[in-house]
Amino acid sequence: MEILDGKKISGEMKKEIAGEVKQMIAEGKKIPHLVAILVGNNGASETYVNHKEKDCYEVGFQSNVLRFPDTISEAELLNEIDKINKNNDIDGVIVQLPLPEHISEQKVIEAIDPKKDVDGFHPMNVGRMVIGLPSYISATPDGIVELLKRYNIQTAGMSCVVLGRSNIVGRPIANLLSHKGYPGDCTVSICHSRTKNLKDICHEADIIIAALGAPEFVTADMVKEGAVVVDVGITRVEADTKSGFKLLGDVKYDEVAPKCSFITPVPGGVGPMTRVSLLKNTIKAAKKEIYK
Ligand code: GUN
Repeated sequence: MEILDGKKISGEMKKEIAGEVKQMIAEGKKIPHLVAILVGNNGASETYVNHKEKDCYEVGFQSNVLRFPDTISEAELLNEIDKINKNNDIDGVIVQLPLPEHISEQKVIEAIDPKKDVDGFHPMNVGRMVIGLPSYISATPDGIVELLKRYNIQTAGMSCVVLGRSNIVGRPIANLLSHKGYPGDCTVSICHSRTKNLKDICHEADIIIAALGAPEFVTADMVKEGAVVVDVGITRVEADTKSGFKLLGDVKYDEVAPKCSFITPVPGGVGPMTRVSLLKNTIKAAKKEIYK
């Protein structure tokens, strides 16, 4: 069994990106600039946005966090996005989700200029990804694909089971792995809460992507000997540790890992790859690689 070490790979990728930024500066180009919008004070969102700011700093990007109270109206937020869309100094923008209930997340996502949508959530980017055109791909599926690539995981002809059908992870990763080429050419099944015979379906899989947000859902009896298991879950549960909690993935790691050819740990697997993918998208935005 080999660990798919997202922490190590993302560290290497951050060095590559920092090198690209240095090169851009040497060529007299503008420093890539990411703006994150944070509404309200959701603890997890605060943490994610702080991570994004730290990551930007580490690779030499410019970054700002625009913080708004959860009393901001939808119209006011849309107006802020409009200002960012028109600001030529800003290359990429993300609006941290979830948003307060009185604000339509879909309206906000669709208000972002697709050229600056480094989260890859705008229907224009999702649609372009589905038909294989250049697009911003959302960070978690992009991070998974990169991790598979960097470990030369064979995907052609493999049967892949994706657990979970979210717009952010399940649907896009299923789509990407079904694309022609590498890493792709998989035969993909998307499983969800209504799936019958889930255990049997998982047991047939060469590759399992667990993205349901159900701690330790995938157990050893669901996994075939030699399977590749990618664990997207990260749930904070109370525990007898110094911090009072621990992070659990969607896979019961201790019993599943010995059966796998490759497996991602939690933490240190998909999480750091997700973080670095946002940086990748931001540098693509600054270089106008997706949209001229
Ligand atoms: N909330 C949970 N995941 C994400 C993400 O990838 N991007 C944004 N903007 N919000 C999130």
